[in-house]
Amino acid sequence: MSDATQNTSQTGPLRHFLQFRDFSREEIEYVLGRAQLIKDKFKRYQPHHTLHDRTLAMVFEKASTRTRVSFEAGMYQLGGSVIHLTSSNSQLGRSEPIEDTARVVSRMVDLVMIRTFEQTRLERFAAHSRVPVINGLTNEYHPCQILADIFTFMEMRGSIEGKTVAWIGDANNMAYTWLQAAEILGFTLHVSGPKGYQLDPKLTGQVAPHVLREFNDPMEATKGAHLVTTDVWTSMGFEAENEERRLAFNDWCVDAEMMAQAHPDALFMHCLPAHRGEEVTAEVIDGPQSVVWDEAENRMHVQKALMEFLLLGKQ
Ligand code: CP
Ligand code: NVA
Repeated sequence: MSDATQNTSQTGPLRHFLQFRDFSREEIEYVLGRAQLIKDKFKRYQPHHTLHDRTLAMVFEKASTRTRVSFEAGMYQLGGSVIHLTSSNSQLGRSEPIEDTARVVSRMVDLVMIRTFEQTRLERFAAHSRVPVINGLTNEYHPCQILADIFTFMEMRGSIEGKTVAWIGDANNMAYTWLQAAEILGFTLHVSGPKGYQLDPKLTGQVAPHVLREFNDPMEATKGAHLVTTDVWTSMGFEAENEERRLAFNDWCVDAEMMAQAHPDALFMHCLPAHRGEEVTAEVIDGPQSVVWDEAENRMHVQKALMEFLLLGKQ
């Protein structure tokens, strides 16, 4: 029997969510619609136990607050249970190969969420897993966060199609995932970051100008945007570059002057955790255009829909 033999708990072919473009536009729209129903039921205290008796294993090789709490609370609310592994409390920290971990863990649980370093490490896990694997953040992508961000935008402003999203700062895992979302869902991404921290054309490939526009000046990138979003100057795993990044990113702080360039109805988002006074001022993140707390909460609702979709397909 091969590693990839499925557990019987799944109803359809084995699917993973390793990057945003693993799903079609239609599948993303389904998951977002389902998230709305699941959120509405949660707000009315109506039980929604579609994953009764199912188990999610969460593997964290980097720190987390939101991802852990949203997946764990979400799985319990769906009637399932959760196992929490980290590098230090599992054999991963003692050099057990990721492939062996995948083979073993995926024989005992129904679903796995991993937060790790290289995307290739996640892919190696998925290649040896019998159950669906979800990317809970890698150096390259953070697709669950972008699902939540788009859900939040749609809740507050309607469809994101044809809109402009301004990404201010590091071309990191969030930026590359926004780009995939723009290509799939039909909006325009403006990106501005300092030299040396911009999108790598070798990684993006050819992108149509109605999908991606890059700017040296963050004020230009923000002009007319319907959503302005940013992230920390130094992502997890890159801490050794802290000092050089602090100098390079000095002009890439989202402040009130920058927000004033955006569309009058523009929202501000940040995946959190945030460093007030670095990538964003307290005035903006704690101000009226900021939707960061809804954005964080929505992680749970979209991930519940995602887990349900991966295990049960469309309902
Ligand atoms: N936004 C996000 O993924 O937060 P955590 O690192 O706290 O999980
Ligand atoms: N870009 C950040 C996101 C944290 C949720 C990081 O990777 O550390």
